[in-house]
Amino acid sequence: MDMAISSALPGHLVMAATLMLLVVQAQGITRHYDFNVQMVNVTRLCATKSMVTVNGQCPGPELVAREGDRVVVRVTNNVAHNITLHWHGVRQVRTGWADGPAYITQCPIQTGQSYVYNFTVDGQRGTLWWHAHISWLRATAYGAVVILPKLGVPYPFPAPHEEVPVIFGEWWTADTEAVISQAMQTGGGPNVSDAFTINGLPGPLYNCSAQDTFKLKVKQGKTYMLRLINAALNDELFFSIANHTLTVVEVDAVYVKPFTVETLVISPGQTTNVLLTAKPYYPGANFYMSAAPYSTARPGTFANTTVAGILEYENPSSPSAASFVKSLPLFKPTLPQLNDTDFVTNFTAKLRSLASAQYPAAVPRSVDRRFFFTVGLGTLPCPANTTCQGPNGTQMAAAVNNVSFVLPSRALLQSHFTGLSRGVYASDFPVMPLSPFNYTGTPPNNTNVATGTKLLVLPFNTSVELVMQDTSILGAESHPLHLHGFNFFVVGQGFGNYDPVNDPSKFNLVDPVERNTVGVPAGGWVAIRFLADNPGVWFMHCHLEVHTTWGLRMAWLVLDGSLPSQKLLPPPSDLPKC
Ligand code: C2O
Repeated sequence: MDMAISSALPGHLVMAATLMLLVVQAQGITRHYDFNVQMVNVTRLCATKSMVTVNGQCPGPELVAREGDRVVVRVTNNVAHNITLHWHGVRQVRTGWADGPAYITQCPIQTGQSYVYNFTVDGQRGTLWWHAHISWLRATAYGAVVILPKLGVPYPFPAPHEEVPVIFGEWWTADTEAVISQAMQTGGGPNVSDAFTINGLPGPLYNCSAQDTFKLKVKQGKTYMLRLINAALNDELFFSIANHTLTVVEVDAVYVKPFTVETLVISPGQTTNVLLTAKPYYPGANFYMSAAPYSTARPGTFANTTVAGILEYENPSSPSAASFVKSLPLFKPTLPQLNDTDFVTNFTAKLRSLASAQYPAAVPRSVDRRFFFTVGLGTLPCPANTTCQGPNGTQMAAAVNNVSFVLPSRALLQSHFTGLSRGVYASDFPVMPLSPFNYTGTPPNNTNVATGTKLLVLPFNTSVELVMQDTSILGAESHPLHLHGFNFFVVGQGFGNYDPVNDPSKFNLVDPVERNTVGVPAGGWVAIRFLADNPGVWFMHCHLEVHTTWGLRMAWLVLDGSLPSQKLLPPPSDLPKC
C-alpha cells in the first residue's frame, strides 16, 4: 500500500510527506486532559462511602501518550480536601513544577481552584501511573499512564494482540483520611485495609463482592500485555495466574531482558509489563489471577488478604456466549508464603536492562559523590500530657539517616527558585549516619529519631552512588524507595550490613535494571546510581504510605547547570499558592 502511494506521487511530495512524518515523530503532539477531582459514592464489601476520585472513577482515567508527546492536564479541585497529582515515574526534565508532591514542588490546589500540569514525556516508553500526592488521598485517586513508543517504532518483543492495564489497589471501608489522622493522633499504627482490588474490584474472595470481580477475557493462542501497576497504599504484592506463565518485558517504563515466571512481586509505586500467552487450545476452565501481600512486618501491621480476578477463555464453538461460565472447573494459583524474602530476592535478581544498541543502559561508570542512607522505623517521644499507642508509649516514626522529614508549610521548589529558603528548609541532610551502629544487628535501646526539613544539594550533572541500608529498629522490613525526577540503576544489593570494601566489586555496571522505585531488602541494602542531570527539588520516599507519613522521606536539590538548557524553567503563572 505504501509502495502504491509512493509510486503514484511525484518525488518531492513523497519527500515532503516523509519529512513531515519525521517532524511529527520528533516533536510529538500535545494531548489535553481534564481531570475533575470530585467526591463519588462507591459501594464495596456491602458498604457505601463517599470518596475522592478523578472524574468520578476509581481507577481514574487512563492517560495515554506517545514518547515525545506533550501532556497537558487541567486539574480542577471540587472536593473539600486540598489536592495535588503526581505523574509517577515521568522524569519531568526541567519541569519540576508539574511533578506534584505537595509542599515539595507545589502548594496544593485548594477547593474550587485548578492547576494545569504541563510536561513532555521524553526517552520513556511503557507503563507508569498517576496518583494524588497529598496525605492518603492516593488511596482512591490514581490511574494508569500508558506511554506508547514513537510512531513506527515497534516493541522489542512480538506485538501483543491486546494491552490491558491491571491496577492493584487497596480498599478501606472507612475513610482513609480518618484512618491516618487517627493514627497520627494516637501515635500507633493505622488500621489496615479491608480488601485488595484489581482495577477497583475486590472479587470473589471477599464478602459480598462476587459481582465486583475483574474478568480478563482471552482468545486461545493470543498474547496479551498486562500493564501491572501496584497502587496499593501499604503493601507489596505477589501476583500469579493459575496454570499460566508471565514474561516480564518492562519495568517502570524501561525495557528489560525478557524472562518468564509463574509468580512475580510488585511493590507500591512499581509497574511491570508482562506478556501472557493464552493456551493454544480452549481449556474448558477458568483461572484465578491472584495477588496477596509480601511482608516481613509484624502480623496485624499489614493487610493479610487475597484478591482474585478471573481469566476466562472465549469458547470457540460459541463465541457469542460472553458471560463467565460458572460450571467450568476453576484453577487457583499458589502464591509464596507472605514473608518469603527468598522468592523476592530471586525474582529481583532476574531483572536486567535490555542494554541493547537501541536501548542502552547508561550506567554512570564513575562516581562523583557517594552517600549512605539508613532507612527504617523509629519512635518520637509522646507529647506531654498525652498517651501514645506506639512502642512503649511512644509515637511511631520513620526516618532516613535518623532524620524524620517534616513537610514544610511552603513548597520547597518555589522557596529555592525565589531564593527565600530561610525558615523553610536547611541544606544539611546528613550524607551518612551521624552515629553509626550495627544496622541489622540487635537494635539500639534508644530508638528516637530527629526531625527536620533538610535537603541534600547536588551540583548539576553530579554522578551519584547511593547505598540504602535497612535497619532492624522495630523490625527489619522491606522499603520500596521511590526517587522523583530520575531513573536510577540498581547496581547491587545484599543482606546484613553493606560492606564498602568488598561489596562494590560485585556491582553490575553492565546491565543493571533501571527504574524509579526499588525495594530495600528487609535486613539488607541496595546500591543505586544516577546522574543528577535534572535541576529541581526531587522528593525521595518509601512508597509504603504509612512509612512516608511517619517521615521516611527526604529531598534532593539539584542545582542548575551553566547552559540555558540545563536550567529549571520558570514556574507557570497558575502555580498554586500556599
Ligand atoms: Cu508515587 Cu512520591 O510518589
